[in-house]
Amino acid sequence: MKTELQLRPANMNDADCLLAWRNDRATREASLCTARVEVADHIKWLRSAISNDQQRLYIAEVNHRAVGSIRADREGECWILSWTVAPRSRGKGIAQQMLKCFIEGCNETLLAQIKVNNIASQKVAVRAGFVLQDVQDGIFFYQRNAD
Ligand SMILES: CC(C)(COP(=O)(O)OP(=O)(O)OC[C@H]1O[C@@H](n2cnc3c(N)ncnc32)[C@H](O)[C@@H]1OP(=O)(O)O)[C@@H](O)C(=O)NCCC(=O)NCCS
Repeated sequence: MKTELQLRPANMNDADCLLAWRNDRATREASLCTARVEVADHIKWLRSAISNDQQRLYIAEVNHRAVGSIRADREGECWILSWTVAPRSRGKGIAQQMLKCFIEGCNETLLAQIKVNNIASQKVAVRAGFVLQDVQDGIFFYQRNAD
């Protein structure tokens, strides 16, 4: 059985699980915007995200089971990345695998903004080649240059 992680573009059928992950307590704590997201706003956002060439949204799957998501928002010549691992799939190195997979298919400058108390995500980012550039208001700003 194939066990490696794969990324596929998100679609509207992913709306429920993406919303559940987004409203999960740990995800909200790690987000820059910590408010719960309402269903209607989420659907509107997802519809826009999957049809906008300035955004990329992927679902990570292992054995066809969704284990997380990774999102990239265009920022000038760079992409700002953010990622979430499904609550039941945390603690297994999934974020590391998702980032590796994304980076293999994207040879551009990547940015990430991670709260100072989110040690797990900082480890994941550094292992993926991100370098700390700045800290402002409790947020670390990371950058990974193209290879
Ligand atoms: C943070 C998150 C992405 C981590 O993903 P994950 O794949 O479950 O990460 P892991 O639990 O495998 O941890 C990655 C590393 O951090 C370490 N780690 C985890 N929690 C830690 C903590 N509180 N303190 C120190 N190290 C920690 C792990 O031990 C692991 O290191 P190791 O490989 O040397 O053992 C995931 O928990 C998540 O989605 N959280 C909610 C949303 C979020 O934080 N998104 C990121 C926003 S920038």
